[in-house]
Amino acid sequence: MDQDKKTISGFSKLSKRGKIKWIVSNFYKEPDKVMSELMSYWHSNEEQQKILDNFSENTISNFPMPFGVAPNFIIDDKAYCIPMVIEESSVVAAASSAAKYWMDRGGFKTEVISTKKLGQVSFIWSGDKAKLQYHFEEIKQQLIEECFSITSSMVKRGGGIMDIDLIDFTDQQPGLFQLMGTFETCDSMGANFINTCLEQFSKSLINFFQTSPLFSGAERSVEIIMSILSNYTPECMVRAWVECPIDQLGKFPNGMSAEDFARKFALAVKIAEIDPHRAATHNKGIYNGVDAVVLATGNDFRAIEACGHAYASRGENYSSLSHCEIRNGVFKFWLDLPLAVGTVGGLTSLHPIAKRSLELLENPNAKELMCIIAATGLAQNFSALRSLVTTGIQQGHMKMHLQNILNQLKATKDEELSAIEHFADEIVSFSAVRAYLEKLRLG
Ligand code: MEV
Repeated sequence: MDQDKKTISGFSKLSKRGKIKWIVSNFYKEPDKVMSELMSYWHSNEEQQKILDNFSENTISNFPMPFGVAPNFIIDDKAYCIPMVIEESSVVAAASSAAKYWMDRGGFKTEVISTKKLGQVSFIWSGDKAKLQYHFEEIKQQLIEECFSITSSMVKRGGGIMDIDLIDFTDQQPGLFQLMGTFETCDSMGANFINTCLEQFSKSLINFFQTSPLFSGAERSVEIIMSILSNYTPECMVRAWVECPIDQLGKFPNGMSAEDFARKFALAVKIAEIDPHRAATHNKGIYNGVDAVVLATGNDFRAIEACGHAYASRGENYSSLSHCEIRNGVFKFWLDLPLAVGTVGGLTSLHPIAKRSLELLENPNAKELMCIIAATGLAQNFSALRSLVTTGIQQGHMKMHLQNILNQLKATKDEELSAIEHFADEIVSFSAVRAYLEKLRLG
């Protein structure tokens, strides 16, 4: 009976109001209140709302997230104010603080190492594999030629299909091969372009086996299993780094010397290189910054994270994406990040705020955006490690946490100031702050 009320057919055909009505009356205790709350987040401009609705399906409202900025980033001698969409307190503050710190020490440097993207066609073919390998160059040329109508405008922009390799998985699965396409997609993330090319490769491959005089009998039959881009793009890489002589690292809390700071910091990175448990947390900190910019610029954070974690697992263990070295008295800290992003196409120009984010960054091309994102990830990682090896992370986090609790408890400005002073040396928890405010309010 209960299950009957909580399932429905034809939900997608209901109007937006109808969808909300069905949800609130079947899943909530206060349907009217929830309905008006959900509707209060509808965009006041109907056209804008339609754009947002069309990004997804069954949309009933919008889910607000804070849109912040981290100013004072100097990246390759150019100043940036970086847009960040993130719900976690301290992240934007940490990025801003690292940006300011490195602003006085030469800023962030970056280098795009390569921008190749990949896609695969997996197929089963049970003929003589030496023969397939022997004729593969000819097959490849045909696949590329038959894709020309799809690739011509990308080729004009300097991209297209760079190569196709034949991958042999027959030792792990009888008859299993892959076409591994390498693509250059210029300023677009290129998912649609790559997938369209791959689906054309599949058709051309079937056609080749069926019509080429090189193959006969059972060799003519090929079964395509699937055609899809790979989110693992280890050849779409950017490096960001910061460096300065140790004696210019400045002062640290509790009288810690710059030498001690650099040594402890490098050790903290080493631990993330050695230990996957620490590496996951360390890399999560990097993605705090990376994802926030990826989201703000309308890129696909799931693809970016999947790729980064696959890359972090390329050795024996899942490991750190960043590295640190102290040599000849110079502290150097860097991040190698696989990053397939776009600045044209997809959400980048459709999402009204993503468009503004890119404008704030002075409309970078994809390579520049890779550099900006990598620098933000490195900044985030630097700030997290700096706190961890000096004061501990909670000092900064709790300041933000306290502010959130005070907002939740609707503290006045005076109560806020008094609580901040009180909790400077006290442990912050929701109940402790509530008790403190209650006492304060009683006079
Ligand atoms: C929290 O979101 C991120 C950190 O845990 C990262 C780290 O430990 O390096 C602070």
